[in-house]
Amino acid sequence: MDNVAHTLENLHTETRSFRPHASFAAHANATSYEYKKAGVDRLQYWREAALRLAWREPFTEILDWSDAPVARWFHDGTLNACDNAVDRHVREGRGDRVAFHFVGEPGDTATLTYADMHERVQKAANGLLSLGVTTGDRVAIYLPQIPEAVVAMLACARIGAIHSVVFGGFSAESLRQRIDDAEAKLVITADGGNRRGAHLALKPLVDDALAGPEGQGPAASVEHVLVVRRTGQHTAWTEGRDVWWHDAVDPQPAAHEPVWVEAEHPLFILYTSGTTGTPKGLWHSTGGYLTGAAHTHRLVFDLKPETDVYWCTADVGWITGHSYIVYGPMINGATQVLYEGTPNTPHEGRWWEIVEQYKVTILYTAPTAIRTFMKWGEAIPQQYDLSSLRLLGSVGEPINPEAWMWYRRVIGGDRCPIVDTWWQTETGAIMISPLPGVTATKPGSAMTPMPGVCMDVVDDAGRPVANGEGGYLVATEPWPSMLRGIWGDRHRYVSTYWNHFDGMYFAGDGAKKDVDGDLWLLGRVDDVMNVSGHRLTTTEIEHSLVSHPWVAEAAVVGAADEVTGQAVVAFVIVRSDAHGVPTDGDEVAAALREHVRRQIGALAKPRTILVVSEVPKTRSGKIMRRLLRDVAENRPTGDVTTLADPTVMDAIRVGLDAGTGD
Ligand code: WT7
Repeated sequence: MDNVAHTLENLHTETRSFRPHASFAAHANATSYEYKKAGVDRLQYWREAALRLAWREPFTEILDWSDAPVARWFHDGTLNACDNAVDRHVREGRGDRVAFHFVGEPGDTATLTYADMHERVQKAANGLLSLGVTTGDRVAIYLPQIPEAVVAMLACARIGAIHSVVFGGFSAESLRQRIDDAEAKLVITADGGNRRGAHLALKPLVDDALAGPEGQGPAASVEHVLVVRRTGQHTAWTEGRDVWWHDAVDPQPAAHEPVWVEAEHPLFILYTSGTTGTPKGLWHSTGGYLTGAAHTHRLVFDLKPETDVYWCTADVGWITGHSYIVYGPMINGATQVLYEGTPNTPHEGRWWEIVEQYKVTILYTAPTAIRTFMKWGEAIPQQYDLSSLRLLGSVGEPINPEAWMWYRRVIGGDRCPIVDTWWQTETGAIMISPLPGVTATKPGSAMTPMPGVCMDVVDDAGRPVANGEGGYLVATEPWPSMLRGIWGDRHRYVSTYWNHFDGMYFAGDGAKKDVDGDLWLLGRVDDVMNVSGHRLTTTEIEHSLVSHPWVAEAAVVGAADEVTGQAVVAFVIVRSDAHGVPTDGDEVAAALREHVRRQIGALAKPRTILVVSEVPKTRSGKIMRRLLRDVAENRPTGDVTTLADPTVMDAIRVGLDAGTGD
C-alpha cells in the first residue's frame, strides 16, 4: 500500500462538479434508467445488451459461473465478430456509410465504407485460408496503424482464427516471445511504417524474431509471413515463407461465409506486462467481449452512428484499439478517423487539423497526450476550428485535475462532457466511467462503476472501505467482457487475479472513495508501471539491464513524470570485473538505454539511468523500490528501518550528488 498511502496524502479535496448540459442530456443514449435496470436484474441487463449483437443461434443461458473464476457468458449461442462489425451493416443497408477516414502520416488518405471493408475482409479471409490458417489457429499481427491492421484482425475473426496483435513499437525479441507463447502459425506484418517523417522498418524485426535467439533457432510454429507493402522500402525475402499481401489477398474472391463460433470461442490474445518478467497472454471470448465493447461504446461515447465522427487515438496494438477502434465502434456502425502518425508530425497542430478537417465529434485519448499539448501551449489548438467536438474521453492512467480542466476548456470549449474511463486489458471494456448526459463529473475522478458492473474498494482483509477512505480496487461479480484466462496457464490466471481477496477480482490498482462514494484511481499498487498509458513491469526491464555484460545488478522504479505520468528510472550497479566499461556515467547510461530498446522496445527505454554502488534491500533480499522512488522523485527518504544496511541510502544520495548519474 506504499504508493496508495503516498498518493492519498497528496490528493486534495476536489469541490468542482460539472452537471451535464440539458441540451446534451435531452438526446443522450444513456439515462439514469440504465443504473436502475441493472440494479434490479443484472443478468437480465447484460442479456439485453448481448441481444443487440447479431447472433446466428440464440443463447439460452446468460452466465455459467460453475467453473469460477473462469466465466462463460451466453455460451450456447453462436455468432461471428466480423459479421457483427461489418457484414451486418451491409446486410441492413448501411454499406455506403464511411467506416474509416484513414490518414497516413505522410498525408496520404483513404476513405473506406462498410461495403469496402466487407470486400476487404472477405478477400483477406480467403487469403488466410489459402495460407493454411484455419479456425482456432493463432495469427500474430505486427503492423502499423493502417487499414490492413483492422482488416487483418477482422479476417482472423471471420475464419475463427485467434489474433494476437503485437504493438509495432515492440522489439524483435518481444515479438518472438509472443509468437512462441501463442504458437502462431502466421505473422502478418508490413515492410515498414511511417514515424516522424522517417520509414520505420518492421519486416526485418520479424525476420530477426523468426530466426530466433542463438541456440534456439527459428520459431517452430510459423509457416508464413504475410507482408503488406506500406513504405516501399527494400525487404529481405525468404522464399516459400514470405508472401506479399497484394499477391495472397488482393486477387482472392470477395465472397466468404463467416465461420459461426460459440460465444466462448477465443477471439484474441493480447500480451500485457504482469508483475513477473514474462508477459501474460490474456485471452478474450467472442460473445461476452463483444457485448461489453459494443455496449460501453454506445453508452459512454453516446455514439450517434449517422452523424458522429469518432476518433480514438490509440494504436490497434493495445486493448484500447481492439475495443474502441475495431470491435465496439464497428459493431455500432461508427464512422471513424484512423491516423497512422504522431501528434507533432509534421507540426504540433496535426491532431487539431484532423479534427477540423473531418469534423470529429468524439475524441478519445490519453492524459499523457493532453499533458503534452498543455506543454506545447493552447495557442496551437486555438488555431483550429474544434467546434465539431461534442464529447471527450480519457483513458490509460489517472488524469490530473489540471489536465482535465485544460482538456475541457481548451479542447472542449467548456461545452463537451468528459468521460474519464477506467479499465484494463483484462476487463476488455470500460468498467468505471461517468455516463455523459447523466453523471455530474468531478475533474480527476472516473466516478462510478458502469451499470451492470460491480466494483468496490477494499482494505487488506477484503472488507469494503468507508467513504473517504482508500484501499484496493476489486470487482465483486463477473462481467461479460472479463478475460477468460492467461493463455495456457490457468494457475497463473487464478493466482494473479483471484487469490488476493476471496471471490473477488483484484485489479492491481489503488483507489479511494470520496465522501460521496465516487471513485478516484490512485495508480498501481504492484510492480507495474504506467508510462504514457503503456504498461511495463519493473522486473522485465531489470532482467533486460542485467543481461548486459556491464551490469551486476539493476533496480527499476516508475517515478512521477510531468508528461508521461510515470517514467522508467533505473539504478544499476556496474560489474567490477567487466571490461571496457566507459568511465563516464552518461556513456554507460546511453549504451544501456539502447540495450533495453533493442530487447524490449522503445517504450521501455529508461528515462534516467543512475550508476550506483549499491541498491537498498530488505534483510530477505527484496529490493526496496519505495526508497528508490523517493530518490528518483527527489523526496527525502522514507522509513529505512527494514533495510539490511541502513547506510545504503546515504551512499546512493552522496554518489548522485557527486554526479555519477545521468
Ligand atoms: C491500467 C491498465 C484500458 C486501456 C489502457 C490501459 C491504468 C487505465 C485509467 C483511468 C486511472 C487508469 C490502471 C489500470 N488506467 N485507465 N481512467 N484512470 N488509471 O490498459 O495496459 O491494461 O493498463 O491502466 O492502472 O490497471 P492496460
